[in-house]
Amino acid sequence: MDTYILGIESSCDDTSAAILKNNKILANVIANQDVHKFYGGVVPELASRAHQQNIIPVVHRALDIAKINKNQLHAVAFTNGPGLLGSLLVGASFAKSFSMALNVPLIEVNHMHAHILAHFIEDEQQPVKPRFPFLCLTVSGGHTQIMLIRDYFDMEVIGQTIDDAAGEAFDKTAKIMGLPYPGGPLIDKMAREGNPHAIKFPHPNIPGLDFSFSGLKTSVLYFLRDQLKNDPDYIEKNKLDLSASLQHTIIEILMHKLRKAAKETGINDVAIAGGVSANSGLRQAMLKEKEQSGWNVYIPKFEYSTDNAAMIAITGYFKYIKGDFANHDITPFTRYADKA
Ligand code: KG4
Ligand code: ZN
Repeated sequence: MDTYILGIESSCDDTSAAILKNNKILANVIANQDVHKFYGGVVPELASRAHQQNIIPVVHRALDIAKINKNQLHAVAFTNGPGLLGSLLVGASFAKSFSMALNVPLIEVNHMHAHILAHFIEDEQQPVKPRFPFLCLTVSGGHTQIMLIRDYFDMEVIGQTIDDAAGEAFDKTAKIMGLPYPGGPLIDKMAREGNPHAIKFPHPNIPGLDFSFSGLKTSVLYFLRDQLKNDPDYIEKNKLDLSASLQHTIIEILMHKLRKAAKETGINDVAIAGGVSANSGLRQAMLKEKEQSGWNVYIPKFEYSTDNAAMIAITGYFKYIKGDFANHDITPFTRYADKA
């Protein structure tokens, strides 16, 4: 018998609903929130209000696209954290009510694990799936982790950022350059036409497999302050080289630790996941490593890199098979460490 799972994602500023038939996506609807653009980051109160407006239309749309009736659903899976509390509460409340009304199991999903398990969505264009054990560099707006994945639900954080996440490094330096939020995709676009070696930014010296990005933000701030004293148009004139150099620095910091992790663990199956895995420079760096170091690399499709409910639904599917269901008195958690 086929299994239909509804996935709900509302941890940050994207409201998303997806319908899965076994491990195949029938619908993956995402409502982005433009409202944060000029605030330099996500405004939590505005995000939860927008989720509240979007959640029902997004679920209806997903059911329409999937061409199924809500009574055909076998379970409702939702992001229970980490994320913004007000945003999570909207998805959690909806998922609980919907699963109760339909009398189907409720499944809680960890957003960061879901980013990784997105690699297991059945897709004709990407037939090769990661082999266990593999390493995953999970890079988003709130997290930067190197994970050792032994199985679908046996994951260990072996390295992580001690301050800002890689996505924040993109977004905050973009903000200093006067770009709207989120700056990551804009830097990526401009970096394609710039010289990655034009400006040298310092690399942090952090022990082990951990990362730090707050120093980069500060050095960009001071560098630009000095340049702008001499030429008020410096950013506009140099935005391509600035973007390329920043992106290059962030990728080098990430890849340095990922290489170290591969060496230390002896694992050559390496994946990337999360919003920053959409970055074209990081994707190229992974492909280069495949050639140079013989890694088996796994790069998610663009639509499964940034936040989406398809990844929540596939994680829900694996939990459904195990019979791992949640109680309705479950409450969302905001930080990865609070749960893992
Ligand atoms: O996973 P995600 O959609 O949301 C979180 O879970 O945080 O990641 C969002 C982050 C943002 O910081 C955004 O700027 C970054 O991913 N991002 C990118 C690109 N696309 C999204 N960063 C660099 N290059 C991109 N192409
Ligand atoms: Zn995410």
